[in-house]
This record gives sequence, C-alpha cells and structure tokens, in this order.
Amino acid sequence: MVAPPKIRTKNTGKKYWPPKTLKKETDNMNEITEFLKNRRSVLIKLLDNAPIPEADIEEILACGLRVPDHGVLGPWRIVTITPETGAYLGQHILAPEFQRLNTEATEVMLEFERQRFTRTGLVLAVLSTPVDHIKIPAWEMHLSAGAMCQNLLHAALGLGYGAQWVTEWYAYNDKLLAELGGNPPTDKCAGFIYIGYKKEEPKPRRRPEKKDIISSYIPPK
Ligand SMILES: Cc1cc2nc3c(=O)[nH]c(=O)nc-3n(C[C@H](O)[C@H](O)[C@H](O)COP(=O)(O)O)c2cc1C
Repeated sequence: MVAPPKIRTKNTGKKYWPPKTLKKETDNMNEITEFLKNRRSVLIKLLDNAPIPEADIEEILACGLRVPDHGVLGPWRIVTITPETGAYLGQHILAPEFQRLNTEATEVMLEFERQRFTRTGLVLAVLSTPVDHIKIPAWEMHLSAGAMCQNLLHAALGLGYGAQWVTEWYAYNDKLLAELGGNPPTDKCAGFIYIGYKKEEPKPRRRPEKKDIISSYIPPK
C-alpha cells in the first residue's frame, strides 16, 4: 500500500496525514473489494471433514448475523450441523426421504444420503423464517436470508476455509425443514453452507460478461 500524500493545510501551512481511522478503513475496503473480486467457492468434494475450531465457527456465525435486515426482524435461523449430528439426519431423514421420492434408489445412493452431511467439518443450514409485518413483505425477509448465506460463505472463505452454498433436493424437503426447526407452510431453506479444509484450490470459473448484465439507465426522450 502506497502511503497517502501529505496534505498542506491552507491556514497553518502545516503538513498532516489523513486521519488514521480513515486510512485504516480505506485499506480494509481495498482488501474487501479484492476479496470479492477474486473469491471462489470450493466444491464439497474438494473439502474434508476435520473439525473446525470453535473460535472460527463463532467468527463465521457472527458475520452471518451482521446481514442487512429491514426492520431488525431477524427473519432467519442458522442451524449448525457437524458430521456427528449430520449422520443422524442422514440416517433418519435424508435416506428415508430420498427413498420415498425415488423408489428406484440403489443402496449406493442411499448410503450417499446417509453420509451427505458428514462430508465437511461443518454445515450451516440457513432457514428463512419470515414474520408478518405491516410494511415489510416476506420477499425482503427471504432476500435477507440469501444475504445471510452470502455473509456466512464469505466469512468462511475469508478465514481460509473452502465453502460452498448449495440447495440440492433436500433444501425443498419439508420433513428436513421441520426437523431443523422450520415451519414448512411459511419458512424456506435458503441453503446449506458446507465449510471445510480444502483438499485442493479451486479453479477459476467462467463469469458473466459485464456488457450482458450491466447497463446505464437512459430515460425515454
Ligand atoms: C441459492 C444457491 C443454490 C445453489 N445450489 C447449488 C447446488 O445445489 N449444487 C451446486 O452444485 N451448486 C449450487 N450453487 C452454486 C454454487 O454453490 C456456487 O455458487 C458456484 O459453484 C459458483 O461459486 P462461486 O461464484 O462462489 O465461485 C448454488 C448457488 C446458490 C446461490
């Protein structure tokens, strides 16, 4: 980082550095934008399931809670799943539900479902739990849950873990939603954030072309 230029004040002629706090914030902002431009999710199959230190879990969860939330309604829940508790869910919810929905399921497929939540050190289930509000529509609360997923993903990546946000079939399964504490008629699962140590670095991913996505608004003549 290049030091900011000294500024000469008009009236005293003295030189001073821009306020320390401002400089620090500017440095951090650059780090953040560089992170956002370069971050990459890591596929679950490229993660392992070694335990994640409690302090890091707390840090990731704290970042999740610092999400934009119109009206401070807190319309979401995070459920932590470890390989041990995930094995229970796999055995008692995922495999039976997968079999119910796929009558042709093979034993290999069912075993995959039993082990699904045990593949990484931590899985964070994010539930969108909208509340009735006179002015704020449920849609905004669902958006906030999506933003929470992004915060959790970024926090995990920022700490050096690999992480991936997925929904797959079981994000739409009411039995699992209820088991995780959600209310199926109103709540939705915004996704599962799988977090683990990386077995290898991810490869770059194709990104949309700026010109296809971004335009400047031009008012009608
Ligand atoms: C809401 C949501 C659900 C997703 N569900 C899945 C999924 O079920 N399976 C999958 O392979 N990728 C899924 N993805 C995509 C990946 O997690 C990830 O976004 C993609 O691999 C690109 O990652 P990156 O842009 O963070 O590098 C989902 C993404 C979002 C936003």
